Amino acid sequence: MYKIIDGKEVSSYVKQQVKLQTDILKQQGITPCLAVIIVEGDPASRVYVNNKKRACEVCGIKSLEYALAGDVGEEELLALIDKLNNDSSVNGILCQLPVPKHIDEKKVIDAISPAKDVDGFSAENVGKIWLGDYSISPCTPMGVIELLDYYKIDVQGKNCVVVGRSNIVGKPMAALLLERNATVTVCHSKTKDLASFTKNADIIVAAVGRAGFITADMVSEGAVVIDVGINRLSDGKLAGDVDFEAVKEKASYITPVPGGCGPMTIAVLMKNTIEATKMQNNIK
Ligand code: GUN
Repeated sequence: MYKIIDGKEVSSYVKQQVKLQTDILKQQGITPCLAVIIVEGDPASRVYVNNKKRACEVCGIKSLEYALAGDVGEEELLALIDKLNNDSSVNGILCQLPVPKHIDEKKVIDAISPAKDVDGFSAENVGKIWLGDYSISPCTPMGVIELLDYYKIDVQGKNCVVVGRSNIVGKPMAALLLERNATVTVCHSKTKDLASFTKNADIIVAAVGRAGFITADMVSEGAVVIDVGINRLSDGKLAGDVDFEAVKEKASYITPVPGGCGPMTIAVLMKNTIEATKMQNNIK
């Protein structure tokens, strides 16, 4: 019998913890502040940004939204980031991705000061994750770790198979699992005989971006299945990378979509905003 990993419950718990920390900072006259930049045009990005602003409210964090028109020039966006980097009342900066094609995403990521990079996307913060010496966590992968911790699922010595090698999820996910002494395999679109790896996994983290990609025949009995995918189907419904209905019958634990990893990404973003605020104010 499988257990559902409830990302809504765990994210509420994490946000409550963040709120306690925000209250302590406020008693010291410090109000954590997150600046959220969105280049309008992508409906999904609008939903994510609204959810991030709502989470800030729950956590007592001040949020500032900078909504730029879809045809905004790269220079203007980079100038805004520069202004926010130099504004000491702003502790965290994120630019919702993707940005339109005429803007170089890498330049945007590189422009955000690593001290305020609450997504953890900058080269400096990514490097620190691989060195095991970081305070800003990669949001989605750390959200997965928080889920595993909450349900007391130990990864040490386990065969963990990460399917997907994106900079945002797959690669940092591998780093965090490795740091916790898991045996990690990263599979991707060029992997030969993917099922031979996933069938051998105690824990599967699916982050491919293809609905229903992980099927029941690829999963061994009792595996923990974490689904990071959020795919919009033609009927408008959301689906993960895992064929949930079939795979759940084999899994010991499984995350649903929605309500699994999604809410955790935002909860960790809130944690990172507090971390950044503390670092900028020399508070341990
Ligand atoms: N687009 C999809 N996920 C994310 C995220 O975690 N952060 C940002 N900035 N953009 C995203």
